[in-house]
Amino acid sequence: MSHNIIEVKNLNYKYPDGNSALNGVTFKINHGESVGIIGANGAGKSTLLMNIIGILFPNKGEVRIGDILVEKKTLSVIRKKVGIVFQNSDDQLFMTTVYDDVAFGPRNYKLSEEEVKNRVMTSLETVGISHLKDRPPYKLSGGEKRAAAIATVLAMNPDILVMDEPTTALDPKSRRRLINLLRSLPHTKIITTHDLDMVLELCNRVIVLNEGQIVEDSSTLSIFENDELMKNCGLERPLSMQNCPICGTKKQIKYRYNIG
Ligand SMILES: Nc1ncnc2c1ncn2[C@@H]1O[C@H](COP(=O)(O)OP(=O)(O)O)[C@@H](O)[C@H]1O
Ligand SMILES: [Mg+2]
Repeated sequence: MSHNIIEVKNLNYKYPDGNSALNGVTFKINHGESVGIIGANGAGKSTLLMNIIGILFPNKGEVRIGDILVEKKTLSVIRKKVGIVFQNSDDQLFMTTVYDDVAFGPRNYKLSEEEVKNRVMTSLETVGISHLKDRPPYKLSGGEKRAAAIATVLAMNPDILVMDEPTTALDPKSRRRLINLLRSLPHTKIITTHDLDMVLELCNRVIVLNEGQIVEDSSTLSIFENDELMKNCGLERPLSMQNCPICGTKKQIKYRYNIG
């Protein structure tokens, strides 16, 4: 078994309309890493995730999960190993109850109803919404929907969690709950986001995408402290790393977070 759980090699992806979204993206991710993928709108973040999970397939280059090439014929294995939480939870929840949504994946893999129940209840407990199991997903709040979407993924027991903008549209309390949840999950994680404060808390490593190419792949703090790089890529330091706008006091970021 390869030491690298994800290997992306010279990935090129062009949409059918001719729009080149990824141009020669190469990186490896090890077991247990949490990696933030950042970049301005249109940088190629979502396209990259969709190539990793096998919703899109490269025009050139390849993606491997462990030793398995991501291609149509390996998709059922890949889907067990990699779970994606979409940007819009409504894309992930389509059954009449939360329970049935979380049960959908395990049932598809023909597990016994007892094992399905086991997985559903464990996943709902992990994300803290067992009490919502009989509710219709469309009646949940944004934070509850996001938790339910994560439960649908956890129920498949994946090794890798891939999340596209997971904190978008969450209120501060739901966002905090989500960050605490993600921190408690032992999975290898890839998170695309504009929420750089969350990246600071969860990821030791960041990959910066700009116009479909990697411009930097390094430790989170070294990237966030590189103001020129951030500006050139349409980004700016996380709020918690910006100096006080009133008195100019510098933030002691290295003492607050155990990263660097
Ligand atoms: N379905 C699509 N058809 C054509 N071009 C697309 C499509 N989806 C995204 N793109 C283009 O691909 C590029 C990367 O988009 P995307 O991966 O969504 O970026 P990000 O997630 O970083 O905002 C952008 O130029 C975007 O306009
Ligand atoms: Mg996107």
